[in-house]
Amino acid sequence: VDYVRYALLTLHILGAAAIIGPAFEQLRAETKRITTVMLWGARAQIVTGLLLVGSVYASDAYEPDNAKLAVKLVIALAVAGLAESQRKKETVTWGFWAVLGLTILNVVVAVFWR
Ligand code: HEM
Repeated sequence: VDYVRYALLTLHILGAAAIIGPAFEQLRAETKRITTVMLWGARAQIVTGLLLVGSVYASDAYEPDNAKLAVKLVIALAVAGLAESQRKKETVTWGFWAVLGLTILNVVVAVFWR
């Protein structure tokens, strides 16, 4: 079962890359957009994150920290909600920065909160 958890973690990290990569690509662009890849990345983070939580509970690798996971879920829901609501816009400014900033915040929570 550890392999399932590792596979989900791999997908989870690729999902984060799908949000952050296209955002970095657009840093110097005049008009910024929520791309389809970013939107699917945001959706994937919720699915892979929740499946990961299940796989952590199913393994006895370590004790899951529910407060940390709840914070990550709230942030991820905000990212996905913003991506869903702003994806059709020709140009997105604060929403773009919010999606990028909150995604990076979730990376920081994932790494520092242990
Ligand atoms: C934008 C959304 C998210 C980003 C950018 C993100 C980022 C990350 C990263 C970088 C890791 C690897 C950390 C490590 O293994 O040391 C990780 C692990 C993990 N994430 Fe997420 N995550 C997101 C959303 C979620 C959600 C919604 C959940 C579930 C509530 C979740 C649950 C987990 C779990 C269970 C792990 C395994 C390591 C641990 O227990 O902390 N993540 N995440």
